[in-house]
Amino acid sequence: MSVLKRAAVVGLGGQAQEDHLPGLADCQFAGLVAVCDTDPDRAAAQAAAYAVPGFTDLKVLLDEARPDFVIAAVPHHAGREVIQACAAAGVHVMKEKPFATDPGEAAELAALCASAGIELMVTVQRRFHPIYTAALQLLEQIGTPYLVEGRYTFHCPDPAAGWRGRAELAGGGCLMDMGYHLIDLLFWYLGLPDRVLADTSARAAPGVDYDAEDTALVHLAYDSGLYGSLLISRSAGPKTERLTVTGPRGAVVVERGAVRWLDPAGALIESLTREPAWPAAAAAQIDCFCRVLDGQRPNPSGPSAHLAHAAFLAAAYASRATATTCDPKEFLA
Ligand SMILES: NC(=O)c1ccc[n+]([C@@H]2O[C@H](COP(=O)([O-])OP(=O)(O)OC[C@H]3O[C@@H](n4cnc5c(N)ncnc54)[C@H](O)[C@@H]3O)[C@@H](O)[C@H]2O)c1
Repeated sequence: MSVLKRAAVVGLGGQAQEDHLPGLADCQFAGLVAVCDTDPDRAAAQAAAYAVPGFTDLKVLLDEARPDFVIAAVPHHAGREVIQACAAAGVHVMKEKPFATDPGEAAELAALCASAGIELMVTVQRRFHPIYTAALQLLEQIGTPYLVEGRYTFHCPDPAAGWRGRAELAGGGCLMDMGYHLIDLLFWYLGLPDRVLADTSARAAPGVDYDAEDTALVHLAYDSGLYGSLLISRSAGPKTERLTVTGPRGAVVVERGAVRWLDPAGALIESLTREPAWPAAAAAQIDCFCRVLDGQRPNPSGPSAHLAHAAFLAAAYASRATATTCDPKEFLA
């Protein structure tokens, strides 16, 4: 890959500034050619910081800067219009999670990408982190799993702030947002559950007006007999990210930067640590996408792989609304 691919970043908030803009500076196969944000001050600031043209209208960017691909890091409600504009221009997309906010939108966007002939890769950066890959190998040591427990929590001081506080804009709350990563790990390691029973709340800031859940608890079960739960919260500290899978020969515990295999009594059998915990996943993801575009490797995280995530989320929200158990497979569009 001798010629750098031309990349543009759309949506210049926290995620673009923390991961994608530095990732483009560090990666091997792409270079930044333009940035876009509907907020003109943000567009101007990042254009100046990276010495590239800045735009407030994506269609103008696509026309004038002619990128090979766009990295889309916009609020969840704006994802559809960004993908539609890129598809119309034949420009590939690296899409920040979630792929879509509901199964109907996921199916529509998957069909659009296929008919436009563009690649779309959803960013789930744990798949580019060796600790999470090592966990897959350790999982083979514990026998048939019978229990799974996930916890992803941190304390955000204002759960009502911005688009994240409103379910209509965010598509959901913490379950759809940060929970997407834990759900992706669950599918990667264990597959799509057969049943979910979920409840959520938006009560961490009493008297404050917001309706996107700050806390969610999802019980899940597989026909194999495996069951467990995921607890997600953007209001309850301390910051914790952990998935534990237990079988007859012990448990695999995967956390940020470390994985452990414990015996059935909880004593350590072996562990693996990465230091620093998160050095280069953003650049690795971008380089992987460039290899996908060059036909050198299959897309690891394309639209069809993410229909299940939309179905799981829809099943969880339907379970909350009806106080009944729901089967995610029935929500696959
Ligand atoms: N992978 C991760 O670990 C991770 C972490 C944080 C956020 N994210 C994801 O990244 C995305 C963005 O999150 P964020 O925290 O950066 O949000 P943010 O609110 O900080 O930034 C979003 C930016 O998009 C701009 N914007 C809104 N509509 C737009 C449009 N139509 N065109 C161009 N720009 C537009 C806003 O002005 C804002 O600057 C979300 O999908 C979120 O889930 C992923």
